[in-house]
Amino acid sequence: MSRILVTGGAGYIGSHTTVELMQQGYKVTIVDNLSNSNINVLDGIEAIVGQRPDFAQVDCNDQAAMEQVFATYPDIEAVIHFAASKAVGESVEKPLLYYRNNIGSLITLLELMKKHGVRNIVFSSSCTVYGQPDADHLPVGEDAPIQKALSPYGNTKQINEEIIRDEAHADANLQAILLRYFNPIGAHPSALIGELPLGVPQNLLPFVTQTAAGIRKELKVFGDDYNTPDGSCIRDYIYVVDLAKAHVKAVERMLTGKSAEQVEVFNLGTGRGLSVLEIVRTFIEVTGVNLPYQIVGRREGDIEQVWANPKKANDVLGWRADTPTADILASAWKWQCHLADKK
Ligand code: NAD
Ligand code: WQD
Repeated sequence: MSRILVTGGAGYIGSHTTVELMQQGYKVTIVDNLSNSNINVLDGIEAIVGQRPDFAQVDCNDQAAMEQVFATYPDIEAVIHFAASKAVGESVEKPLLYYRNNIGSLITLLELMKKHGVRNIVFSSSCTVYGQPDADHLPVGEDAPIQKALSPYGNTKQINEEIIRDEAHADANLQAILLRYFNPIGAHPSALIGELPLGVPQNLLPFVTQTAAGIRKELKVFGDDYNTPDGSCIRDYIYVVDLAKAHVKAVERMLTGKSAEQVEVFNLGTGRGLSVLEIVRTFIEVTGVNLPYQIVGRREGDIEQVWANPKKANDVLGWRADTPTADILASAWKWQCHLADKK
């Protein structure tokens, strides 16, 4: 079976994807510098799959160390590139760090893929490239216009997509699939792997579960005066395990020569928009746990509403994100409880 190089494979989405790949029989080599993850994640993966992925603690920007990885595993057939810094607020404070890490990593990777004859790359992009789509483009299809990024982080995703397109144009051997994720949430049903936010979570779900666990005093709901049915913002929350499975489909598509274009783009979402208040209510219903919250002012830079049209991924990849919201939120809570037990 083919070997897949998973950069950032110790992280949230990368670890779930590694599990799905290994369960389908793929060999996986993870490269991660552990800047936003913990080596114990490998134990979680091993406990679920019954086998440990190969691992190299390497920074993707370190050309020599990455060269060594490609030399050690000459059977790599595809790369899934998750490794990146991803905190939107931090990227505004430290833009150079974000440009260096996220863009430098991709360039190094593409150079080494070419050198070692590895033709296939799946890239972690984001719905952030669409900004706030106008009403005609909701739900958002892949053909919706790309809008000027609102943060250096978002800009790195746009630039990386362009780098991949330019390189594919120059090198007919390169195949790429750009996956634009909507809002990944939840954890593996085993609660052996999940999201590990460092410090105060910026994203909704980790803040919800930490508040329910008593780590945070109350959830702040950022705005209830938006032009949405209940006034709070709407997103497309996709279960991380469903998202992970889409990566397996993407890899399969490239390795079996089914790609219709050299660079293909897929939106990965459920097609269902949920408001912040719907998430809060469902979480309370599903878990029965008290979740103190307060409505506060809007958060600067927030998009009012965005959700995916996942038809292309459904039809072409034969993939669907159909885990019920209740199950997803239950998995997030189970993971939070598991983290508390470990302490
Ligand atoms: P994460 O931080 O949990 O995982 C990223 C991993 O990459 C971490 O383990 C980190 O240690 C590693 N890493 C970072 N820079 C590295 C480098 N230079 N060399 C080696 N390893 C490095 O994040 P995630 O949520 O799993 O996100 C994975 C990818 O998906 C990222 O590219 C992110 O931008 C993208 N994405 C995430 C979301 C989201 O909401 N989580 C949404 C859209 C896109
Ligand atoms: C979701 C909703 C908040 C926290 C960000 C990045 C985006 C992508 C995913 C990678 C919003 C509300 C949140 C809280 C709240 N990442 N909220 N109280 O903003 O959709 O996207 O992560 O590519 O690029 O921008 O996700 O989880 O931060 O917020 O009310 O304490 O929850 O206002 O409506 P977002 P999020």
